[in-house]
Amino acid sequence: EKGGYEHFMLKEIFEQPRSILDSMRGRMIAENNHLMMGGIREYENKFANAQRILIVACGTSWHAGLVAEYLIEDLARIPVEVEYASEFRYRNPIVNENDIVIAISQSGETADTLAAIELAKSKGATIFGICNVVGSSIARATDAGAYTHAGPEIGVASTKAFTAQVTVLTLIAMIIGSKRGTIETSKLHQLIAELEQIPAKVEETLKLDKQIEEISAIYKDATNFLYLGRGYNFPVALEGALKLKEISYIHAEGYPAAEMKHGPIALIDEQMPVVVIATKDSSYEKIVSNVQEVKARKGKVIAVVTEGDTTIPAMADHVIEIPETSEHLMPLLSVVPLQLLSYHIAVMRGCNVDQPRNLAKSVTVE
Ligand code: M6R
Repeated sequence: EKGGYEHFMLKEIFEQPRSILDSMRGRMIAENNHLMMGGIREYENKFANAQRILIVACGTSWHAGLVAEYLIEDLARIPVEVEYASEFRYRNPIVNENDIVIAISQSGETADTLAAIELAKSKGATIFGICNVVGSSIARATDAGAYTHAGPEIGVASTKAFTAQVTVLTLIAMIIGSKRGTIETSKLHQLIAELEQIPAKVEETLKLDKQIEEISAIYKDATNFLYLGRGYNFPVALEGALKLKEISYIHAEGYPAAEMKHGPIALIDEQMPVVVIATKDSSYEKIVSNVQEVKARKGKVIAVVTEGDTTIPAMADHVIEIPETSEHLMPLLSVVPLQLLSYHIAVMRGCNVDQPRNLAKSVTVE
């Protein structure tokens, strides 16, 4: 059932062009710029008039929530707060009937997320679920929702579920934004056209597998890694670091690149691999300076850049070139090389990739 792949994780990484497509199929018709999502229809006004949106999730799903914060605030202009379900539920949060809570969970069984939902519900909030597993506890506990159509995810490290979640959240941000009139029509149409091309661009990105395997061989014995990104790529930095930690047991930290100077820069020396996600977007010039800061301290820079970039390749030790897209959609591409990097490093270290030690696929304990 691994479809010829050595591990489920690799199979699932390679399934992403398909799982992203499946998650937008029937929800977006690019030819006539049409967006629709069954689960949202009934709550469209509620979403459009919401004073704020709270997102609760854990782990990788929480990272998808962070991407959604950028998307919804930019496209729909509604304030968003992204919460770890486990913190939210234990701190007497302020929630009321005007709030919309989006709960994100691949398994739909994560105990902390479920408890956060129950708490928000008891305070009268409307709960919208984004789950992958049909009929799961979280899917059943919500008022409405939209499934990700990623198919079963077996590897403990979440990969295709993340990109499916981001796809659905992108559609939601676009739908609310167009309902509220906060996205210009031309921009909406451009985003729809770009989103349509994402599966093919993920396919392109997957062709970098061999090159990433070579880079992995160089750094497989590192004891620490730093991941840096800004804007839409900041959550991707967190996700890249989480992937490496959980399957290769290498300590890794993800940081917003500008925060480096407030502490983590002290860690950088010639032993430290620093993965910088530095695609061409509104924070590009700023991240160029961050790469310079790392190089000035002799850190090893593995840069994920947009095809055709020449500035960062002139400074970085290794360059991974991914296709161009709107910055709103970049996480769908930029996360892929990081998934592959962690996968290859874990395999080279002889780790049990699909079932890493101490971890379960769904965390049903509190
Ligand atoms: O099933 P969920 O999306 O609710 O799971 C949340 C986390 O437990 C999960 O994303 C975990 O962090 C993964 N192992 C990350 O790869």
